[in-house]
Amino acid sequence: MKKVKVLSKNNMVFEETEIPKPNETRNILVKTKRVGICGSDRHILHGQNPLATLPRVVGHEVVGVVEEIYGESTLKVGQHVVIEPISSCGKCYACKQNRPNVCKELVVFGVHEDGGLQEYFTINEKQLHPVNNDIPFEKSVLIEPLTIGAQATYRANIQVGDTILIQGAGPIGLCILKHAKLTECTVIISDLDQTRLDYAKQQGADITINIKNSDLISEINKITNDEGVNVSIDAVCTPKTFELGTQVTSPAGRVVVLGFAEQPAQISQLPITKNELTILGSRLQTHQFKGVIKHLENGAFDNFDLVTQQFELNDVIDAFKFIDENPTEVRKAIIKF
Ligand SMILES: NC(=O)c1ccc[n+]([C@@H]2O[C@H](COP(=O)([O-])OP(=O)(O)OC[C@H]3O[C@@H](n4cnc5c(N)ncnc54)[C@H](O)[C@@H]3O)[C@@H](O)[C@H]2O)c1
Ligand SMILES: [Zn+2]
Ligand SMILES: [Zn+2]
Repeated sequence: MKKVKVLSKNNMVFEETEIPKPNETRNILVKTKRVGICGSDRHILHGQNPLATLPRVVGHEVVGVVEEIYGESTLKVGQHVVIEPISSCGKCYACKQNRPNVCKELVVFGVHEDGGLQEYFTINEKQLHPVNNDIPFEKSVLIEPLTIGAQATYRANIQVGDTILIQGAGPIGLCILKHAKLTECTVIISDLDQTRLDYAKQQGADITINIKNSDLISEINKITNDEGVNVSIDAVCTPKTFELGTQVTSPAGRVVVLGFAEQPAQISQLPITKNELTILGSRLQTHQFKGVIKHLENGAFDNFDLVTQQFELNDVIDAFKFIDENPTEVRKAIIKF
């Protein structure tokens, strides 16, 4: 079987290996069907992810089919499955708080252990969720990024009637939008790319702000009668957007942060104390897969056609290059097996 490995910075190669055998700990052999390419996969390839270890098979947005089972299982051969890319120790404080996504010993599939850019892999069934076999793979490959949106909106505790700002209409901002709109609320989304904003509007955003030609703070003040948004979620993740998030959020509001940047932002205490802001991190997801799959199977994301390009596994190196060079043409590119 074929796999693609990042050996070192900007060096990705094909390898030919034996198909692995399922065993007691990794009891399911999965045949890979589609893998979504995420910004973090590109960061690993370009040497910009300090958490990843090399050499690494990347890919954590993965759907496949159960090919072989070791021993007893609730799954059946032929079942379509999506991979929950985290495994945790079960013993640390976070795990005991039922928040395994921030486990001290967290292992992320495709980051700390080999991921989905290979024709077959073994995994424990705890990390597999069945998806109705009628759902096209082009749709089910979006489940993982949708769980990131589910987590961010869950952390934000969105209430009916809230006004929400999402900064950034990239794939993550859009996955947050799709979840925010499951509650009756007003969603404002900002970006500097008009094509992305137009797509966000088509996907349910109530108001779009192009920050190329308008000032975010004054626009938000206008829209909210100077109150600010009740929730701001940062899906751009720069020090500047983090600062803006705290500046445009109303008293008693929530500011959700998704970034991994190490550079500090300049945030003063005044708006946080004066407005009793709650600032929350949102990392990957906890227990969001089942809910997202249910919404998907019930048609809640039927018009969410995020996938814009499909590449064959043999063309994966070109695919990464294409995404880097054509940011406005690519919403989500996926690899087809
Ligand atoms: N915490 C998590 O679990 C998690 C998971 C996945 C991704 N992320 C992070 O989420 C962020 C977004 O991911 P993505 O894949 O959507 O990225 P992306 O780069 O595809 O999209 C970012 C969007 O922000 C826009 N943008 C840039 N500067 C802006 C600004 N100042 N104001 C408004 N919009 C601006 C860009 O035009 C683009 O459309 C990344 O930083 C990524 O690291 C976090
Ligand atoms: Zn991803
Ligand atoms: Zn733990």
